[in-house]
Amino acid sequence: MKEKLKLGVLVSGRGSNLQAIIDGTLQGKIDAVVKVVISDTATAYALERARRHGLDTAFVDPKQYPSRQAFDMAVVQTLKKYDVDLVCLAGFMRLLTPAFVNEYRNRILNIHPALLPSFPGLHAQRKALNHGVKFSGCTVHFVDEGTDTGPIIIQAVVPVFDDDTEDTLSERILRYEHQIYPKAIQLFAEGRLEVRGRKVFCQRSEKENGEKEGWGLMNP
Ligand code: GRF
Repeated sequence: MKEKLKLGVLVSGRGSNLQAIIDGTLQGKIDAVVKVVISDTATAYALERARRHGLDTAFVDPKQYPSRQAFDMAVVQTLKKYDVDLVCLAGFMRLLTPAFVNEYRNRILNIHPALLPSFPGLHAQRKALNHGVKFSGCTVHFVDEGTDTGPIIIQAVVPVFDDDTEDTLSERILRYEHQIYPKAIQLFAEGRLEVRGRKVFCQRSEKENGEKEGWGLMNP
């Protein structure tokens, strides 16, 4: 039997996306196994979620390292120890250094709560609201050296309402995050994603969209 894709998930906080990933693997929606959950924050609730599922966790303390790159290399070392194939950033609040990105080129995914390239970085929902957009959403993308700039895999769109607050919009977006992140991981696990320049092509099967088999820029 083919060995399952090995995931390493990086978290800093609440971990609801981690939970969606764990659930996806347990429910057979993601053909992969979470090998390790790594955090830069000892008290992250995400670590507690991981432990409840009996998953291995690691806290890598940024204060113990003289530079961002040294910290990143400690994280990479842990990922290597677990022989991780795909790194999933799930609310990980640190930018990766080029040294990290190079180690896992096109094998790092991130979820961002806006329709990139709009509103990269922190407080994306607040920025979208303040800007007065009528629609926002979320994006799963490969990670490159920039801040939320990597090739886009899947996006989901949600409406923005007049009476939205940062909280109500975030909550609406989050529901879709929990759908598209597991989906993107599964597409990766099936070997159906291909990065060509800044675009991600997805191999479709005949039954999808009534299209013929082949590679396309579809939003799966
Ligand atoms: C999510 O909104 C995600 O898009 C962003 O950080 C938040 C993490 O939430 N990158 P959680 O920790 O997964 O609940």
